[in-house]
Amino acid sequence: MTDHEVAVLDYGSQYSQLIVRRVRELGFASHLYAPAQLANLTNPGAIILSGGPRSTSEVDAPDVDFEKLMSFGVPVLGVCYGMQLLNIKHGGTVKPGVTREYGPAKLVVTDHGDLFKGISHESQVWMSHSDTCANLSTSTQILATNEDAVPVALKWSDRCWGIQFHPEVTHSHEGRPILKNFLTRSGATLAKFDIQAFKAQMLDAIRAEVGDREVICGVSGGVDSTVLAVLLNRAGVKVRSIFIDTGLMRLNEAEEVKAQFEEVGVPIEMIDASEQFVSALTGVSDPEQKRRIIGEMFVDVFWGVAENVELLAQGTLYPDVIESATSGSIASKIKTHHNRVDRILALKEQGKVLEPLAELFKDEVRALGESLGIPHRALWRHPFPGPGLAVRIPGEITPERIAITQQADAIFINELRRSGWYEQVWQAYAALLPVKTVGVKGDERSYEQAISLRAVISEDAMTADWVELPFSVLRNASNKILNGVKGVNRVLYDISTKPPASIEWE
Ligand code: XMP
Repeated sequence: MTDHEVAVLDYGSQYSQLIVRRVRELGFASHLYAPAQLANLTNPGAIILSGGPRSTSEVDAPDVDFEKLMSFGVPVLGVCYGMQLLNIKHGGTVKPGVTREYGPAKLVVTDHGDLFKGISHESQVWMSHSDTCANLSTSTQILATNEDAVPVALKWSDRCWGIQFHPEVTHSHEGRPILKNFLTRSGATLAKFDIQAFKAQMLDAIRAEVGDREVICGVSGGVDSTVLAVLLNRAGVKVRSIFIDTGLMRLNEAEEVKAQFEEVGVPIEMIDASEQFVSALTGVSDPEQKRRIIGEMFVDVFWGVAENVELLAQGTLYPDVIESATSGSIASKIKTHHNRVDRILALKEQGKVLEPLAELFKDEVRALGESLGIPHRALWRHPFPGPGLAVRIPGEITPERIAITQQADAIFINELRRSGWYEQVWQAYAALLPVKTVGVKGDERSYEQAISLRAVISEDAMTADWVELPFSVLRNASNKILNGVKGVNRVLYDISTKPPASIEWE
């Protein structure tokens, strides 16, 4: 650990890593630790106890070694479960709340001293708890309450605070300044967050974990796997980076990915399995069958190369870790497609899976990528689904239909880049519809295919809205597609939100 970093003890809340992220955003070094690791901390600058799903009244509820915690002599903040734990340690109790508070709630500040300096008298915060602190010791100061006058912020001493709400989520409107007050007004001496130092730590950790084993890593050209492959390369460990061309990639994508890695000096093995994929899809129109065929073939091709793997590296990010814990999430669906979870789980049990990005969010991965010298363009590519163009070509997939989709897509994406819209959009693409429509070309009646363009904005792909692109951008894309792509006589713009539509067609 870095001297004077903010140690966040993880009591199991789904927001624990978000606290670390917020601390880093405020410019201070921070890491997440299991509560038991408190004993091994050497020189923390401050300690935050996270929220958690358990109740302090349960037998075996996660605890804290309070004597050790206080022995560091640094500021401590308990959040939600962390606050309740600290209240007990200070002689108070925790009782079941009358009602379960989940979601937005009102924070009424009664003491504008240290923690709430400059914070509104009333503001919205995010709660997620059923228990509340009770029987406060006589020396406990109440700094804020909810609208029913229940204490939700406590100060037990000049270096120990607790808050019932989650300052790390954006729904707590003044969460960030409250966290900043804790870090800057509590008397803590804190190490600054520095991406170069952070990168150096990650490289050291990778070297230590890998040793002299050979790591294998699948690359798609997407942000996460690119950063992962470059990181492994820079760590100087033995690594094989494998790109599988399914033939369902965007126009010239395999070449672009190759060039992208050449630019950063990372060798990759290209496996052209396109014929294999496309012929396996012949005559298949059912979307689920297509996905299954592609998913299984991908796994077979990859594991054919990666046989007897000593260590498999995956570009899993923190939101994937959290989401895959909930059933039916997109992350878990995506994983079963390409990572065949049982196989990965078996490797995990043997300690053969390396996930160096698992504590990072997308924007942190991009910052890390920048510090590794990865070109901006590669770090800001739109997400692309594992099954590739197959989910953008409803109906049967043929080499001709793939070619039409690729050409139309490339025209649309170029138009977005040219007009400066590409990076304002979460994801954009062209889909080929399984219909033919009547038109006029030259003086002749035509009966050709229709392309649907889609551009959406989204936070996390769970919901999405279509983008109000200027008509000029749509007009240029449409003209170029109609004039440049043989077999297409109609271009549509998709104005469906998700829900009820999805981002992809299939
Ligand atoms: P939907 O279409 O479900 O897409 O709104 C949400 C996000 O996930 C991507 N996506 C996939 N990614 N395998 C993947 O790896 C898939 O089967 C798949 N289906 C959708 C999609 O591109 C969007 O970013």
